[in-house]
Amino acid sequence: METEDMEITVSPVHGRFVAEITGVDLSEPLDDHRFTSIHDTFLEYSILVFRGQTLSNEQHIAFSRRFGELEIHPAKHWLLPDSPEILVLSNRGENGTRPIVNGGAYWHSDMTYMAKPPLGSLLYAIKVPPEGGDTLYTDMYKAYETLDEQLKRRIAGLEVIHRYGDRYQKMSSEDKDRPPLTPEQLAEVPDVVHPAVRTHPETGRKALFVNEGFTIGVVGMPKDESAALLEKLFRHSVQPAHIYRHRWQAGDLVMWDNRCTMHRATEYDLRHDRAMHRTTIQGDRPV
Ligand code: SIN
Repeated sequence: METEDMEITVSPVHGRFVAEITGVDLSEPLDDHRFTSIHDTFLEYSILVFRGQTLSNEQHIAFSRRFGELEIHPAKHWLLPDSPEILVLSNRGENGTRPIVNGGAYWHSDMTYMAKPPLGSLLYAIKVPPEGGDTLYTDMYKAYETLDEQLKRRIAGLEVIHRYGDRYQKMSSEDKDRPPLTPEQLAEVPDVVHPAVRTHPETGRKALFVNEGFTIGVVGMPKDESAALLEKLFRHSVQPAHIYRHRWQAGDLVMWDNRCTMHRATEYDLRHDRAMHRTTIQGDRPV
């Protein structure tokens, strides 16, 4: 069912998980009323799709900032020199940034290795390949809600460790263009501990908060047991019925809530260009 609010139209795309918003030009300043409609829809759906946008870096940043302060990614070689709020995910690089071919090609929520992981991310497509290079999204509220009661009890109160360095290292071994992280960059991202289940600070709903990308173990649990439990939770989280596949068109901006979703990029033919700009909104400590 479509709902209209002033000029904004909200069309569900994938149940109560993804909505497309039309009737808004994000390159223009948004009045508070329309911003509130978008914000409320974001909390209701977790993922918003805006198609047909034409955004400068400044406009992308300005819209993102309506939701909060922006995060600066620790891997500085992917940040636009003049706009470090923008992380460039491009297989060719741009304006001196390093090319990246496997950025985000594993299930994760962005930067959960931070003490305060980001609230959300806004990915803007500039160049897309004719096929592939899609982004998959999964619903982590649903992942939690569909766990059996025994497993819910088992993970209640568990804390898990998140780490950036291991994932970065693994992806570097598959991508010759990735420079090693400097000791200073690594020092910015020490291991952190978060609850395995978090309560969304704005909706009050519980979401599973472990991800294959950065969650490396359960605090106080023997290694084998911890690995088996995490694997079970990872597999449960990515059931096909819970997944939305976004097939990009240039000019799409997709915004997702990192507190209750995971995502991963899919492969494509590297002879084609893929260039995306991401901004990332600061979040708070998961509880
Ligand atoms: C990301 O993981 O933030 C980027 C995903 C993508 O490039 O599709």
